[in-house]
Amino acid sequence: MADQHPKLSTKHLLGIKDLTPGDIQLIFETADNFKDVLNRPIKKVPSLRDITIANIFFENSTRTKLSFELAEKRLSADVISFAASSSSVSKGETLIDTVNNILAMKVDMVVMRHPHAGAGLFLSKHVDAQIINAGDGAHEHPTQALLDAFSIREKYGEVTGKKVAIIGDILHSRVALSNILCLQKLGAEVMVCGPTTLIPKHINSLGVKVEHDLFKALNWCDVANMLRIQLERQEMRYFPSLREYSMLYGLNKQILDSLDKEITVMHPGPINRGVEITSDVADSNQSIILDQVENGVAIRMAVLYLLAGYRS
Ligand code: CP
Repeated sequence: MADQHPKLSTKHLLGIKDLTPGDIQLIFETADNFKDVLNRPIKKVPSLRDITIANIFFENSTRTKLSFELAEKRLSADVISFAASSSSVSKGETLIDTVNNILAMKVDMVVMRHPHAGAGLFLSKHVDAQIINAGDGAHEHPTQALLDAFSIREKYGEVTGKKVAIIGDILHSRVALSNILCLQKLGAEVMVCGPTTLIPKHINSLGVKVEHDLFKALNWCDVANMLRIQLERQEMRYFPSLREYSMLYGLNKQILDSLDKEITVMHPGPINRGVEITSDVADSNQSIILDQVENGVAIRMAVLYLLAGYRS
């Protein structure tokens, strides 16, 4: 790493919308360096040894929570983790009181997942710490989009000019919006594909292509990012049954093998095997799903390191 601590153009990471293309390139270049570190026998650097980070998760998570914790530990930060279900939030404590109590213990950064869109922005205006959004409702999941785009760059050498189809429940997905914004900032072409009821009405304002036929979307793209149906965010029925959804929008090996060219398959997880993707596709050579998970640690190390530039 260079002696002078490089910085992003934003003090918090609330969404991809706040990042410039230059910020994203800086994150990728920094993640390249950290990925080298992660492939060494000693996977730890002292970059954040004077920083304390709180991970506060008001929603369940496997990948994001573990990946942030590992990234923080690889950077030698002090880490505390907090799950809302086992905290005093269940006794009625507010978000601001909860976070201010954590900050009173001299915490510098907060990584937060919350079921409500805008929770990170709200917190950033009320507490004196740097906030990193680890997913806010159906709004944004910036580090997921960064690791997705980084994985496409790793596979193809660049993101510019690549055609990416995001397929599934676009309406309820924070991954979809963050991916659209990130890929467009990097010069990729983006298509969304799914049933009409799962495509938001405002989608045209984002400048993406819209397709309702899975086969056409797959034949157009270089990369298919398969999203799961977010049943936990659906207050009504958007399609007759999961079986019917799977028949029309599920990616199986037969469809994959029938395409004109070999595409790359991605999925942010968690996977619902047999619904949006079959096991023989998820586990195939065309899938980079576990590469995405691996890259998540380097990307989160890069984000934390660059945001820490505001504290030096
Ligand atoms: N991709 C993702 O956000 O997964 P988790 O919900 O397990 O963190």
